[in-house]
Amino acid sequence: MRTLIVNSGELAHLCLGDVREPLTGDDMSDRSNNIYPPGQGILIERGIIVQITDSQSLIAEYAPGWDGQRDISAELSVVDAGGRAIVPGFVDSHTHLLWGGDRSSEMRLRQSGLTYRQIAELGGGIAKTVASTRSMSIEDLLSVGMSRLDYASSLGTTSMEVKSGYGLSVESELRLLEAVDELSRHTRVNLFPTWLGGHDFPSDCTRSEYLDQLISEQLPSVMDQGIALWADVFCEPGWFSTDETEAIVLASKELGLPARLHVDEFEDSGGLALAADIGAVSADHVAKSGLDARKAASDSGTMQTFLPGTPYVMGASLDLPVQTCMEEGWAFSLATDFNPNCRILSIPFIGNLASNRMGIDPLAALVSVTRNPATTLRGSDVSGTLAVGSRADLNILWSESVDGWCQTPGENPISHSIIDGFIVNSP
Ligand code: NIG
Ligand code: FE
Repeated sequence: MRTLIVNSGELAHLCLGDVREPLTGDDMSDRSNNIYPPGQGILIERGIIVQITDSQSLIAEYAPGWDGQRDISAELSVVDAGGRAIVPGFVDSHTHLLWGGDRSSEMRLRQSGLTYRQIAELGGGIAKTVASTRSMSIEDLLSVGMSRLDYASSLGTTSMEVKSGYGLSVESELRLLEAVDELSRHTRVNLFPTWLGGHDFPSDCTRSEYLDQLISEQLPSVMDQGIALWADVFCEPGWFSTDETEAIVLASKELGLPARLHVDEFEDSGGLALAADIGAVSADHVAKSGLDARKAASDSGTMQTFLPGTPYVMGASLDLPVQTCMEEGWAFSLATDFNPNCRILSIPFIGNLASNRMGIDPLAALVSVTRNPATTLRGSDVSGTLAVGSRADLNILWSESVDGWCQTPGENPISHSIIDGFIVNSP
């Protein structure tokens, strides 16, 4: 089965340099080495890109006399991009996809001046979502997960990291990870599960009992089942200290589970420095981390993943030092952090915050939601770039320019999405 995409607008292949590495600095906004001009075509065979060349020669070779029809034969579909831009599929590398309940009343508490931590102390926040998630049936969990995945996919997400973290017991954390596994059998979106037992401390045991449970029970069970690719911890004053985080991460590492961590969201407690030190794949939020830690992260190959949706929904400033990372040549990604407090499943909306509120070049922002996060999914065939031999995960936009991917905050910029060679969205 072949799919031929013809008549592209600009095509962001993002293949400058060594595609196994993230792009940094000026390379992220280098248009001449990351974008092909309009008029390209892409031939896909069995989910893999096998040719990218000028559209007319592909039509002459594979669909001579093509009359604009999509399904030419059982073996060949032709998608007419109609001069619209093509970009790699979006890689959302930080989500809390699975949870139940409703936290929308927390907005008024925030407006009355309460902080995230104070709301948690009053019984809101993560603990509230843990209670509603534990009481959900598996059917409801799968159904809500599936509809969120469909929505994210309609907005161009083709790969998604998914955390547990609203169970906080052996049984309920495993149930969430099993649900991710089950969902991956029913969606074409590539799912990458992370164990986040260290998201908060449950109310039904002491702090030290829970730490013990994490290391001696949850972690071994997760490893036994082989249902998570990373361990994550919410390393933040009021939640897990750097020492507690280190203990969980080192135990996980010893069993072969690398880390991606929540660090320095509200204050710099040394979370990013720790992440760099222990070689975490990614350190996320990193809103308040210091410059030395950022440099250390860059040196150790730890991706800094900014989550601008979280300060946005909390009414905080979007002064994340992404420009500094660009200037210093430090690798960074952007992701949604979809969770009950941050109901953003749209990578294009995150790109909109980056370009319209944080001054990031739209192409650099695109790199930060495709190629760069894909490098944190090492071992998978998700590349975040478009080249011969890449997995065919891509989006056709409505705009001619690739910049249109993040310029429509209230509209979907995606006309078609293709995952693994299959057309999953089309007008
Ligand atoms: O990344 N900050 C920690 N975890 C999530 C939010 C969890 C919640 O509020 O339910 C985050 O923002
Ligand atoms: Fe998060």
